[in-house]
Amino acid sequence: MNLIDGKKISLQLQDEIAKEVKQLISEGKKQPHLAAVLVGSDGGSETYVAAKIKACERVGFKSTFVRHPEHVTEEKLLLTVHELNADPDVDGFIVQLPLPRHINEHKILEAVLPSKDVDGFHPINVGRMVLNLPCYVSATPYGIVHLLRKYEIETSGKHCVVVGRSHIVGSPMSILMAKNTALGNCTVTLCHSKTENLKSYTKTADILICALGSPDFITADMVKEGAVVIDVGTTRVASLDSKTGFKLKGDVKFDEVSQKCSFITPVPGGVGPMTIASLLKNTLLAAKKEIYK
Ligand code: GUN
Repeated sequence: MNLIDGKKISLQLQDEIAKEVKQLISEGKKQPHLAAVLVGSDGGSETYVAAKIKACERVGFKSTFVRHPEHVTEEKLLLTVHELNADPDVDGFIVQLPLPRHINEHKILEAVLPSKDVDGFHPINVGRMVLNLPCYVSATPYGIVHLLRKYEIETSGKHCVVVGRSHIVGSPMSILMAKNTALGNCTVTLCHSKTENLKSYTKTADILICALGSPDFITADMVKEGAVVIDVGTTRVASLDSKTGFKLKGDVKFDEVSQKCSFITPVPGGVGPMTIASLLKNTLLAAKKEIYK
């Protein structure tokens, strides 16, 4: 079994981004600038946004953190989005999900200018991704594609099974893997909570991408010998061994599945760090106006 080291690849990608930032600045261009909006104080979201801001510092980006309380109105949040859209210094921004139930998530995401939507969540970017047009691809699927490419994993003609159909991961992942591009050309099966006899599909996967959010859900008997297993799950579970009182758990029962597969991403240290590196990459593309001229 080969471990796919997302942390290492993420740092490599960040080093490349940092070099480009230095180059831009030496040419007299402005520092790339990412803004992040956080509503409420969900522990997971706080951690992710803090990691994104820290990564900005590492690569030499400017960052802005906009925080709203849990009870912020939809109007006030929309105002923040409009202000960031209009701010010429901000190249790209994200609104961390999930949002509180009283806020219409689609309304907020659709208010973000597609040219600043470095999360790739706006319907224009999703549509352009489907049509193979220049766009921001959402960070987690983009990170997974980068990992597969770095580890030279053959995808053409392979059966890729994606478990989970979220807008953020499962759904875009299934589209990317089926594309007629160098990394793609898979035959894709998208499984979800209503799939009957899930194991009959996962067992035939050459590439298994799990994005359910159910710790240890995928067991060895569900995986084909020699499969490539990508674990997107990051559920926080209580842990007495950790200073923080919790640890991150993937969707895959690592100890037993790793005995059987050819490649596997660990949790933590697999897909998670790639999500951040991909967001930085999208922000660099935004600063260079490479997608929307
Ligand atoms: N919540 C979970 N993943 C993400 C992500 O990639 N972007 C945003 N904005 N929110 C998330």
